[in-house]
Amino acid sequence: MAGPADFDLYRTSEEHDMLREAVRALAEAKIAPHAAAVDEEARFPQEALDALVGSDLHAIHVPEEYGGAGADALATVIVIEEVARACASSSLIPAVNKLGSLPVILSGSEDLKKRYLGPLAKGDAMFSYCLSEPDAGSDAAGMKTRAVRDGDHYVLNGVKRWITNAGVSEYYTVMAVTDPEKRSKGISAFVVEKGDEGVSFGAPEKKLGIKGSPTREVYLDNVRIPADRLIGAEGTGFATAMKTLDHTRITIAAQALGIAQGALDYAKGYVQERKQFGKPIADFQGVQFMLADMAMKLEAARQLTYAAAARSERTTEGATKEDLTFFGAAAKCFASDAAMEITTDAVQLLGGYGYTRDYPVERMMRDAKITQIYEGTNQIQRIVMARNLP
Ligand code: CAA
Repeated sequence: MAGPADFDLYRTSEEHDMLREAVRALAEAKIAPHAAAVDEEARFPQEALDALVGSDLHAIHVPEEYGGAGADALATVIVIEEVARACASSSLIPAVNKLGSLPVILSGSEDLKKRYLGPLAKGDAMFSYCLSEPDAGSDAAGMKTRAVRDGDHYVLNGVKRWITNAGVSEYYTVMAVTDPEKRSKGISAFVVEKGDEGVSFGAPEKKLGIKGSPTREVYLDNVRIPADRLIGAEGTGFATAMKTLDHTRITIAAQALGIAQGALDYAKGYVQERKQFGKPIADFQGVQFMLADMAMKLEAARQLTYAAAARSERTTEGATKEDLTFFGAAAKCFASDAAMEITTDAVQLLGGYGYTRDYPVERMMRDAKITQIYEGTNQIQRIVMARNLP
């Protein structure tokens, strides 16, 4: 993939364009045909996982030295965008694989990277991210899950809530309190495995959208793990969690772009076919203005998201740009708000038909809603932006 300088102009390279074409073709052939059933039956999109693993697109961000494709942030955005255009639930496979594993990539020891990134890159394991709890959502540092050192081990106890792909993933990055006196500075990050004794899962949440992506509680009941599963130093877990979100909020923006693009593409076709008052409704200026606004908002969101992705790349000194935190929050907030408006307008353009499950736009509207909520609500994104004004 091209180097960071190429996207300072917020343009995609030829390689990125080829990647988009390939993912779009794969998503249309192998993911889109199952999207309605996955939603209707609230079942895991196994066909999508198989297709993504088959084409090495399930965790494209994993660095080459750990067996991955080593794709840059913009390429990862393009993969998520194109999968979400077909099926938002399926786009959570590459997105959450990045979210779950990024703490290890950013702060983990060489040994942890080798142990956990290889199976992820091969498609043998998925990775989830466990930050939120029943009483610690926006106030993530208010978490209660405890990790207590016991010789060469840590013992974890607590409940994590809203965990995407829980039960399906083999690996979990778990944030837990190691020193309750220190609030955010007393939180540490660990890798927990699905098979560790004492790990269990709640029933899948019954959600408005992204029904194919299982969301469950993760219960940690005296889970005893080797101390070398600690990611980074004790007390750095909250900073690692926040740094991770700086990068991955961009992937939620990508998901929002894809959902919105899917809705806009469908509505564009529909208004040519649907006739009222003796002509296609696309001939009415009121309809044209709606489509123009939808496309304008989508393109603005895309440009901001790609600009954020450029900032997600490391500089030659190994640091990320200082304004990444602002850009990550801004892209997620702007793109998700745009997706909500665009998908709602798509339903409006289809009228009564848009309100039924016989057409895909109502699913897209339901799926868009979550992008305004997870990886930090858009109210939290505004707090993050205000604290990090460029
Ligand atoms: N990078 C590095 N370090 C950071 C950081 C960042 N972006 N943001 C904060 N920190 C560190 C700092 O070291 C800071 O300490 P200093 O005082 O030394 O600077 C420390 O963390 C505490 O930071 P704050 O004082 O800003 O913490 P806060 O308690 O006020 O919380 C918050 C800040 C932005 C509200 C944060 O709690 C937050 O982002 N909340 C939302 C949580 C969230 O996004 N959850 C998403 C769950 S994952 C999910 O949804 C996945 C899914 O399903 C797909």
